[in-house]
Amino acid sequence: MTVEPDGTKFQRDKAVFEQNCLQLRALIQEFHKTPLMSATLTGGLLAVMSVFRNHDEQFEEFAVVVCTLIALFNAMIGLSCIRIRDVMQCYIEKASLFSEDFGERGGRPTKPILAGLGNFSIAIGYAILMFVVALTAIVLPFAAYGCTWFNALPLIVTTLGLSLWYGSAHLRNRQDYVDPVVAFYNKKGREYIEETLPLDLTDVIERFAKHLPTGGRVLDVGAGSGRDSKSFLDRGYKVVALEPSKVLAVHLRGIEGLEVREEKAQNLEEVETFDGIWACASLLHFDEKELAGVMKRLCRALKPNGPFYTCFKNGDGVRLPAKDGILFHDMTPDRLNKLVADNGLKVIEMWSNKSRLHGSNEAHWNNVIARKPF
Ligand SMILES: C[S@@+](CC[C@H](N)C(=O)[O-])C[C@H]1O[C@@H](n2cnc3c(N)ncnc32)[C@H](O)[C@@H]1O
Repeated sequence: MTVEPDGTKFQRDKAVFEQNCLQLRALIQEFHKTPLMSATLTGGLLAVMSVFRNHDEQFEEFAVVVCTLIALFNAMIGLSCIRIRDVMQCYIEKASLFSEDFGERGGRPTKPILAGLGNFSIAIGYAILMFVVALTAIVLPFAAYGCTWFNALPLIVTTLGLSLWYGSAHLRNRQDYVDPVVAFYNKKGREYIEETLPLDLTDVIERFAKHLPTGGRVLDVGAGSGRDSKSFLDRGYKVVALEPSKVLAVHLRGIEGLEVREEKAQNLEEVETFDGIWACASLLHFDEKELAGVMKRLCRALKPNGPFYTCFKNGDGVRLPAKDGILFHDMTPDRLNKLVADNGLKVIEMWSNKSRLHGSNEAHWNNVIARKPF
């Protein structure tokens, strides 16, 4: 890839890369904690057991309980390693936007000191090591403290079962604690609600609602303050608010009749479920690749003939992070037109308007209402 240091493409790639670096830094900090946690807890519990060994008549039962705790904890660490590996893989894929051959080379520098050893293979090695440590920590206490295998085996199976269940529930929830966008809205939550709740979007809501069946089900993607969800509810529609920020989701749960899902649009699994999809200013934190994936999911979730609304600030593609390292994606009317057309939607109307934020000097916004064909 040819890099033009002053070009827009370079600036865009740099924005994506910087965002990934922030995420990776947070992730690596989490990664470093795992062996320390495992060693501290396992060692601590084993030490407690050795104190009780000579004094407690019911040592055998006590040992089984403590061994179970150790097993549970270490199995969770094993699961966390899988999770961290997955998230790292995802960032490495995103960083490949910065350099087209980044993914193929596994993130290795052009002249590595240790050829064949990239960050990713170290991460895998680390994860395997943690697994070995975790498994040893499950087996060793039982062996060392003389519990019979007959007693221990059902406990190990139950422990692993519970850990897998807990781990998969966590994965299903798929909240990326390192997602800087979600972290940004969590931090800015109250201030953001105060700023955007009073905005009046009645004109746009009416333009969109004309295409909805009476009492239909609307998905509000990135519902934020719930301003628009509430407006749809007041007009007799059923509304599902999708909002990954915990702070905003807590606020949304206070709106009567609103179904709130604390989830990301990237995880939407529904097929032809919603009569309309409303995504007001909520697709603008995705880079090119992520936006394409989210659009696919949204279009799949929309019923045939259902309307889709979204808006972006006017501009040409991904912008350098303005604050808190988060990415902004701007769209010219042409790009917006292409976005909906590429996803098989038919444009009903497109228009531009000035920012509705009080006293804002921001560039204007481009809006589109489109329809999914039968
Ligand atoms: C600029 S705000 C728009 C909020 C609201 N729709 C409005 O018009 O006031 C972007 C919203 O998208 C949400 N968001 C961020 N990442 C998201 C994701 N991955 N999936 C769905 N929503 C997301 C944010 O939490 C925030 O509520």
